[in-house]
Amino acid sequence: MNLDQAIQQRRSIRGFTDQPVSRDLLEEIIALANRAPSSMNTQPWHLHVLTGEPLERVRKGNTEKMLGGVPPSREIEDYAAYEGPHRERQIEIAIQLFEAMGIERHDAEKRQDWVMRGFRQFDAPVSVVVCFDRSLLDNTIAHFDTGAMTYGLVLAAWSRGLGAVINGQGIMQSPVVREVANIPEDQVILTCVALGWPDEDFAANSVVSRRRPESNTTRFLGFDNASS
Ligand SMILES: Cc1cc2nc3c(=O)[nH]c(=O)nc-3n(C[C@H](O)[C@H](O)[C@H](O)COP(=O)(O)O)c2cc1C
Repeated sequence: MNLDQAIQQRRSIRGFTDQPVSRDLLEEIIALANRAPSSMNTQPWHLHVLTGEPLERVRKGNTEKMLGGVPPSREIEDYAAYEGPHRERQIEIAIQLFEAMGIERHDAEKRQDWVMRGFRQFDAPVSVVVCFDRSLLDNTIAHFDTGAMTYGLVLAAWSRGLGAVINGQGIMQSPVVREVANIPEDQVILTCVALGWPDEDFAANSVVSRRRPESNTTRFLGFDNASS
């Protein structure tokens, strides 16, 4: 698979087979992600790769706290609810996923099941907890750098037939993750990536999210025939 194909075909994968992912393969992917650019080559990221028992403990703790009504506890500043066009796009992808999964709008039980699935990191065999240096917590560029690395990770996984979904749900109760994975105090948990071999029969895995056209996101200046 070439780079264009990986970028074009990648989708978030939310259903996985039970097949484990080898440590060797994960190390290969991480080595590629580690080549990401960063501001002044600061490389602020740290990865904690969980499988087996520790991952089950994270799933259990996260799920129990969410079900028990414990408010989400993230280590980066939480954004307010999305509004306007951002909210519209959020609703659009939710509708696509629910349609694929046959979840009716008013089916509270199935909707809840779906949300809980997210809190379990979609039962993926591997979770990569993505952190960065706490000393850069207020430095937006460190978030950017770590995001760039994370996209590289997802693409490198995809090009090897693995599926992944970057997800905030899995670290919604970050103290659980911090304790189980013994994350050093000088690191901040940013997000996590659920990763594994895609279950081809899982309907949500075939959902292709939409993109607004580049003409809405991009301007060209100083080119021949440029329009503003
Ligand atoms: C920072 C970040 C957090 C995300 N959190 C979640 C999540 O908690 N649950 C989920 O199902 N998807 C999550 N996603 C996946 C997005 O929903 C997905 O990337 C988006 O809908 C576009 O779809 P695609 O990845 O299939 O192209 C997250 C993606 C990013 C980049």
